[in-house]
Amino acid sequence: MTDSAVPDSPTTATNLGFGVDVGGSGIKGGIVDLDTGALVGERFKVLTPKPATPNAVAVGVAEVVAHFDWAGPVGITLPGVITDGVMRTAANIDPAWIGTDVYALFSEMMGGRQVSVLNDADAAGMAEDAYGAGKGVSGVVMLLTFGTGIGSAILINGTLVPNTELGHLIVGKKEAEHQASSRIKEEKGWSYEKWTEKVSIVLKEYEALFWPKLFIAGGGISRKSDKWIPLLTNSTPVVPATLLNTAGIVGAAMAVNQGLRA
Ligand code: BGC
Repeated sequence: MTDSAVPDSPTTATNLGFGVDVGGSGIKGGIVDLDTGALVGERFKVLTPKPATPNAVAVGVAEVVAHFDWAGPVGITLPGVITDGVMRTAANIDPAWIGTDVYALFSEMMGGRQVSVLNDADAAGMAEDAYGAGKGVSGVVMLLTFGTGIGSAILINGTLVPNTELGHLIVGKKEAEHQASSRIKEEKGWSYEKWTEKVSIVLKEYEALFWPKLFIAGGGISRKSDKWIPLLTNSTPVVPATLLNTAGIVGAAMAVNQGLRA
């Protein structure tokens, strides 16, 4: 399934990379101009297989890459903790991922090429910090993605602290993502006002721990940020992500370009 066509016009950009963002509903990828953080042409998407087992997802990733005839290195995001090349958690994806050597999996599926694999929110944070809402902001910047879960990325002057997983921090009695993700808003049928009360509580907890200069709000609901960011009662400024649905792809391409190994 496609949501776009392959670009047919030649590009003049030379500093190109490739990223694939693995999400709950789609596996999306594209060619990235690493000088600007923009996609070269459109992204291409295949549906995330169900169940989203490691092998089935790797087939989907290879399909996205093959669509562009891309033969170079590939960066890939996953919604979990990755250390020493191994996926350690799987809160919102098939549990078969836990313990999977994700570097070997993706590299072998794509002819032994160079890959980087990193957490989805970490990738989005790298991209927003370099090219988007965090560009030029010094000190600690936190990106949070509000979706099925809450993803987090912490950057200090552009350097990522990987795998922070603050969506699982217990705030009050529950994990943050079990009270303030956009999935919970939908499931409970909450208004923006009601949901934003929960988000404010979570942000206040993060603030007290990390004292960031800026929060960047990502995930699908950040497209409607005018409806809820003004309602927040925490003190650190919150701005919407600007790269939106390309942030994960761009961050993944940056990671492999930098030779990042988890
Ligand atoms: C996962 C994180 C992920 C986030 C957003 C959480 O449930 O533990 O790894 O970044 O969801 O997808």
